[in-house]
Parts: sequence; structure tokens; C-alpha cells
Amino acid sequence: MLLTVPDILHADEVRQIRAQLATAAWGDGRASAGEQAARVKNNEQLPHDCEAARTARAMVLRGLDRQPLFLTAALPKKVFTPRFNRYGGQSNHYGEHVDNAVRFTDSGQRVRTDVSCTVFLSDPSDYDGGELVIRDTFGTHQVKLPAGHAVLYPGTSVHQVTPVTRGERLACFFWVESMVRSDEQRRLLFDMDMALMQLRQAHGESSATVALTGTYHNLLRLWADT
Ligand code: NI
Repeated sequence: MLLTVPDILHADEVRQIRAQLATAAWGDGRASAGEQAARVKNNEQLPHDCEAARTARAMVLRGLDRQPLFLTAALPKKVFTPRFNRYGGQSNHYGEHVDNAVRFTDSGQRVRTDVSCTVFLSDPSDYDGGELVIRDTFGTHQVKLPAGHAVLYPGTSVHQVTPVTRGERLACFFWVESMVRSDEQRRLLFDMDMALMQLRQAHGESSATVALTGTYHNLLRLWADT
């Protein structure tokens, strides 16, 4: 499932993060990539233990917590520590790759990368190129979102960031290990949750919505690994 989650960050939070990142000391993105990915990766990444990274990721994590669409779509069990990258100048693209299936957090905890997430931090008008191109079973999708908005996509997909030919593209990225490992099952639960919300808004609560809500939770009980 490919899903846009708007407004993870408010405009003032985006401004604060950008100001932090502007004065930070960036490093080579290749340092954190797997073997295949490192060959096609050419961007900059923020060292994850610096002050700017700590402040910025706390804001992103707070943003995720207050966005119900993220929670219902990703059904997070573990969230990998958000990281930040920058594309521009000579370090301007990341060729086709698949993310490693399992990542290790700073504390050595394993996170299975069921769902990938990118939060856009630059305004689309501030750079050319830099599209996130995702190939999945439904075809190829190009994603470039307003600052503060995020895209969720399956960790299983082949993806790339096309060369940035003008300006600079800042983004935050991370992975989610979901309570529901299967993308298909997560999709079914998400669709059902959204339809139930629409039913409730249109007609209020009824014995049918109560029963369907029960079915949603019973499916989640069947599929969730907590
Ligand atoms: Ni990737």
C-alpha cells in the first residue's frame, strides 16, 4: 500500500528542523547503506547522534503520534529511529535499491522493515528532480510531497530518488515494524477502518457498525503480533 499522510509536521516545525539541519555537520550517506544500496547511493546523511538529529527526530516522532492516519495504516510495533538525508550538488541521487529487511537501532534492537516512510522537509518549489520513485505490484509511482507530508510504502518495494538538478531536497526517513507483517492484511484492515469511519460519520453508530468494528478487532487479533 502506498499512502500519503499529510501534516506530520506543522509549518513552524518544518522551519525549526530546516534551521537545525542547515548548520549541522553532514556525512556521506553510503556509510549506512547495505552492500547493494551503497553502490547506487549518493547523498548526504545527518550523523544520528548529533544535537540537530536528536531535536529533529523528537519532533517527527511527536508528529507521528498525533496523526491517526499513520497509526491506522502502519499499525506500528516498533519505529526505527528517524534519520535525515540531503540531496543536492554533487550528492544528488539514490539509484534503484531495496532496503535491508532488518535494521538495527542505536541500542541494537532489531526492526523488520515492513513499512518505509519518508517525510518531506523541503518545499517542492525549492528543488527540481528528487522524486521518490517506487515500483510495486501496482506499477511505478513518483512521489514528491509538500514539506511536512509523508509517504508510506511497502518495505518490499524497489525504489530510488532521482537526481536533484536544482536546489536541495531535505527529508526524514525511517521504517516501521508493523504488528501486521503482511502488506495485504494491513491493507484490508486499513480499508475496513476507513469505511467504518465513513459509515459512522454518515449514519452515526448502529448495531451494524458495532458488529463490523468487532470484526475489525477480531481480524487484528488474528493477525497482530505484539
Ligand atoms: Ni531506500
